[in-house]
Order: sequence, then C-alpha cells, then structure tokens
Amino acid sequence: MSLDYWRNIEGTYPFQAENENDMLKLKEGHNPVNLSTLEKQLIGIRRHLHQYPELSKEEFKTTDFIKKCLAEKGIQIRPTSLKTGVFADIAGESEGPSIALRAVIDALPIEEKTGLPYASKHKGIMHACGHDFHTAALLGAAFLLKENQDSLKGKIRLLFQPAEESGAGAAKVIEDGQLDSIDAVIGLHNKPDIPVGTIGLKTGPLMAAVDRFKVEIQGKGAHAALPHNGFDPIVGASQLIVALQTIVSRNINPLNSAIVTVGKINGGSTWNVIPDTVAIEGTVRTFDSEVRNQVKQRFLAVAAQISSAFSLKANVKWQSGPPPLCNDEAITELVRDAAHKARLQVIDPDPSTAGEDFAYYLEHIPGSFAFFGTGGDHDWHHPAFTIDETAIIKASYFLYESARRLLDSSMQE
Ligand code: NI
Repeated sequence: MSLDYWRNIEGTYPFQAENENDMLKLKEGHNPVNLSTLEKQLIGIRRHLHQYPELSKEEFKTTDFIKKCLAEKGIQIRPTSLKTGVFADIAGESEGPSIALRAVIDALPIEEKTGLPYASKHKGIMHACGHDFHTAALLGAAFLLKENQDSLKGKIRLLFQPAEESGAGAAKVIEDGQLDSIDAVIGLHNKPDIPVGTIGLKTGPLMAAVDRFKVEIQGKGAHAALPHNGFDPIVGASQLIVALQTIVSRNINPLNSAIVTVGKINGGSTWNVIPDTVAIEGTVRTFDSEVRNQVKQRFLAVAAQISSAFSLKANVKWQSGPPPLCNDEAITELVRDAAHKARLQVIDPDPSTAGEDFAYYLEHIPGSFAFFGTGGDHDWHHPAFTIDETAIIKASYFLYESARRLLDSSMQE
C-alpha cells in the first residue's frame, strides 16, 4: 500500500510510523503492526472469497476459510449450533464492556460480468454485494485487535454472519445466543456511490423496514364476451393496484415516507377468457415502525374493500422482513470519533430504502451501522459490481478503532 495514508501522523493518532519501511507502531506500548503486509494479506483474503462465493445458508467453505484465518492468529472460536457462520472472541486482560463487530459472508445468485482476473469460479454465484469486502475487513480488524489483546479493556465478539441476503441470518445468530451479554454492536456496508476514504454515519433510521406481500384476487371466470356472467379479477386487480398507491399519497403524513411497489402481476391465459384469479406481489418500505404498521393496516383494508366492491375476494399473504435500521445516538458519536481517528471523511448519508438484517440486532442491543465508501460504477447486486480494494485496510482500521473507542467509553450498563 501507499504509505501516504498513514504518513504525517499527528500526535493523537494511534498509529506512528516507525520508519520509512512502513512498519507502524501503535501508541502507548502497543505492538507494532506492519500495515503494508496486512493490507496485502487482506486483499489476498478478499480475492480468495471473491473467487469462491457461496449462497445464503450454504457458506460452508467460506466458514472453514474464516475459521482457518482466525485460528492461524490464535483467535478463540466460539461454539455455535449454526451450520454456517463463524463467531469468535478476543478478550482483553482487564474487565470492561463486550462489543460485537459484525460482517456478512454470503453471496448472490448472479452471473459475474466484471472480467476481473479473480472473478467468481462458481457459475451463477457472485459476491455482487461486496460481502467478501466485509469479511476481509472484519478479519483485518480481528488481526489488529489480537495484536493488541493485552491492552483491551473488555471483550470483542466477532460475528461473521451467514445468510444476510435471504434475510434469515441475523435472527438465527440472536437465537444462537451470540448476542447474549453483548453491550453494543457495530457494523458497516460498503457503498459504491461514496468515495474511498469517506464514511456515512447517521443517528436514527439509516435503512428501511422490508415487508413483502402477495394478494390473490379470487373472482369468477367467464367468456370474454360475456363479462356479466363472471366477476372479473383483472379489472379488480387493476383498481386495487391504483388504490394501493393512495396509501402513500393520501394516508401517510407527507413528512414521513413510505414505498408501496407492485413488482409482479400474474393472471389470465389468453385474450378471450376472463380468468378466475389474478395474483399481485410486491414490497413495502418504511423507516418508522408506526408508519410501517399504518401502511399494513391500510393495505389490508384497501385490498378487502376494493375486492368486495367488485364481488371478489382478496387473500393477502404478508411477510414481515427486517425492521427499520435505527442507529443509537451515543454509539454513533463514538463511532464518529473513531472515523475521524481513522482519517476518514465523515458525511451525513441519505438513508437507503434497501433493508439490512443488522436491524434485528439493534432491536436487542444498541449499536451503529455505517455506509463505508468503496467507490465503483455499479450499485449493489449488479453483475459488474466492484469495490476498490484500497478501502479494505481503511475499513479494518475503522472497525478496530470503533471497537476500542466503545471499550474505552465504559458504556457498560
Ligand atoms: Ni449486502
């Protein structure tokens, strides 16, 4: 790596250049860490993960690889009932709070089109959301923490969480007891539209609640030329789709926000027959639990009453995903200090209408989730999605510094 990032370090900065050979030393008796070597190692780790991506709940080789990386450094792996995912502890010699650092490890069913020499070797599977970056960054933070274990005032728990993309992972981790006796949790997601060296931090809602719906509208089929003999679910579904849009425009306070999107409609088999049923599917996104509930109640009422007006029946299946992701104020302030220490430029990001199952952790314990700048021309889940690898060591150092800040803050309850 270029040493420029670490050069001209001010007195308060915890890394001190020992000499020009990029051997850098942590202050106050901390052990020296060769960041250049570490960066190369982390880039190697990330490229390995990128080449061998695995889908949610199938991260078996990824799990083995992470365990191997941790074991090589003598980091203690915790028992788990989960088949994939890795949990580990780094405990300091003195008592203090317990802080969790979380990364997600799964990939997506997308055929990679980056043309990179280390592109995915698993056909139809790709790290198109940068979870390889998250895993490498957390491993880097773990290595830095392990190097300085003696001086930690408390305990760090590492959560290499499986199955974020399927939405089930965080809840399983909580069920497995990995959050028990943990005081706070820190996480991050790469963000391609934020440049490397910049971080987005926000108190309050940062990512949306994700709900999914399917409505089956039951009518009565008939000949297309004899509509009076049936109850047309296509006309009913059309009215319903338009009426659902009034939830956002007429029911939700304009100072709040919500999204109701119908992404799929399915009905009929040919041009001259009125079908029996039509199904619509879609998603609702909100940033506030009250608004979330209001949209759902209104949705159910509109679906039932529009259908009834046309002598149809609506069967609504509602699947609740992650709640809104809400960052704790005090912890976000500590994380902000850590970001400044890591010489990152801090911005106030726009919240994302995507969801994140990190939100489940924040229902149990306070914490903060950051958007970490990784640059790139394509957004998450695009087949040509890339990250700038110079962001890895920065993310590692940011996580390391955040963990230390929280341990030193004596935030124990
Ligand atoms: Ni992701």
